[in-house]
Amino acid sequence: MTEVAFLLNGTPVRIAGEPATRTLLDWLRESRGLTGTKEGCNEGDCGACTAMVTDEAGARALNACILFLPQLHGKAVRTVEGLAAPDGTPHPVQAAMVAHHGSQCGFCTPGFVVSMAVGHLNGRRDHDDVLAGNLCRCTGYAPIIRAAEAAESAPVPEALKADRNFILAQLPQGAPIGAPSVQAPIGAGGSAPGAFRPTTADELAAWYQANPDATLIAGATDVGLWVTKQLRDLAPVAFLNGIAEMQVITRQGDSLRIGAGVTVEALRQAIAPLHPSFAAMLRRYASLQIRNAATIGGNIANGSPIGDGPPPLIALGATLHLRQGDSRREMPMEAFFLDYRKQDRRPGEFVEALTIPATAPALRVYKLSKRFDQDISAVCGAFNVTVEGGLVTGARIAFGGMAGIPKRAAATEAALLGQSWSAATIEAAAAAMAGDFSPLSDMRASAGYRMQTAQNMLRRYLHDLAGETVSVLEVEA
Ligand SMILES: Cc1cc2nc3c(=O)[nH]c(=O)nc-3n(C[C@H](O)[C@H](O)[C@H](O)COP(=O)(O)OP(=O)(O)OC[C@H]3O[C@@H](n4cnc5c(N)ncnc54)[C@H](O)[C@@H]3O)c2cc1C
Ligand code: FES
Ligand code: FES
Repeated sequence: MTEVAFLLNGTPVRIAGEPATRTLLDWLRESRGLTGTKEGCNEGDCGACTAMVTDEAGARALNACILFLPQLHGKAVRTVEGLAAPDGTPHPVQAAMVAHHGSQCGFCTPGFVVSMAVGHLNGRRDHDDVLAGNLCRCTGYAPIIRAAEAAESAPVPEALKADRNFILAQLPQGAPIGAPSVQAPIGAGGSAPGAFRPTTADELAAWYQANPDATLIAGATDVGLWVTKQLRDLAPVAFLNGIAEMQVITRQGDSLRIGAGVTVEALRQAIAPLHPSFAAMLRRYASLQIRNAATIGGNIANGSPIGDGPPPLIALGATLHLRQGDSRREMPMEAFFLDYRKQDRRPGEFVEALTIPATAPALRVYKLSKRFDQDISAVCGAFNVTVEGGLVTGARIAFGGMAGIPKRAAATEAALLGQSWSAATIEAAAAAMAGDFSPLSDMRASAGYRMQTAQNMLRRYLHDLAGETVSVLEVEA
């Protein structure tokens, strides 16, 4: 594997000779003896392995169990062992956890304090969101939240600030602050058999065309599980997180062009003022640790029928930009999904970007899952209907979880078009939805439940557009 260099708890480390898909968690525990970082689920669900990763964009909490070493190149990593000051003074969140009895068996505690330390460093006060990816089985969350609140106003320890200063000092002059991971700032980049770490889309395009059977690794929130759960050997692989130009969102007139490497969390923050309902749904996409790693390109490319990105993107009328070598093509997002896990993607072709309208005031997105946080959708519905003069003049409705692919509800849309925007029309369209989908029964939901809740989402949409309160978070007894 290419040499990987990063700052670990304030000390530069260089790693060579490790497999490209060695996880940070395994390496910390097995090669460095840093066993404070715990292994709970080994699939991104519990947060016991949370590490603080800092680059020029700032500090993020990530799950070390599904984070491969090459993804850390040029960054700074802090584990629970690196939170206290050099003289042993605990980090303010550690002291607050003691004072507020935030730990019982202690297994989850290292992950919690690392998430809390990142939240503290970033001035976050929305502790429920910050900690939604950390599970505690015995203490209960109230003392932990109290500890996070108690530490809010304590100053950030100097050692943690130093990580970012170190990264910034490595950057070439004029590098864009805010764009994650510029070129290998510490140590050498380059390629080696089995693993490639491009820094431009051109490099990726040429390499992938020559290696069409390779596995692309973006955030690794899917691919990581292929390694930790399926024990697959993925070589050759290309790591996309060094390609800064694919991690940018740009306004182009009335559109937004979103690079495939933009993380779900960066997307959520960027679209919050433009597409608030979409952004609110993304706040329930997995956890902060997963959103900090997962990319929108990976969410589309994996072709999952229950991915949360595609339904709203289809409802928005997104265009997908694909690239194979020097040749580019584009298509409506919905045309990409051909059949269960089968996409219109040619050998050596990758998702480079997507474009969406910058505004769509009628867009509403509803996610239904068994748990509020950190859960995959049973059904995700996205609605974007245009009403002019009381009549429906445009309708784009898409669902996840209702078919083998993310899919537009063509019969439902047809039942709405040209009709008056009324409860009667909604009922007719809800009945037509039965012609659009034959959902499956699985562990998340039965077919009947899926259909009924999808129809109810359409009814909810009517009330939502009328300005009525429809969210369980807003409804009061
Ligand atoms: C605990 C947990 C919770 C989750 N919760 C949710 C959830 O609530 N909602 C949801 O939608 N998903 C969820 N996921 C799934 C996952 O986060 C997404 O599918 C994610 O967006 C994948 O992006 P990635 O960058 O991590 O992709 P990776 O894992 O790196 O790659 C996924 C696939 O896409 C390919 N790929 C990546 N980038 C490109 C590209 N630019 N061009 C072509 N191919 C590419 C890879 O080769 C691979 O086949 C969850 C995952 C975990 C582990
Ligand atoms: S061990 Fe559970 S999220 Fe990593
Ligand atoms: S303290 Fe035991 S799991 Fe949280």
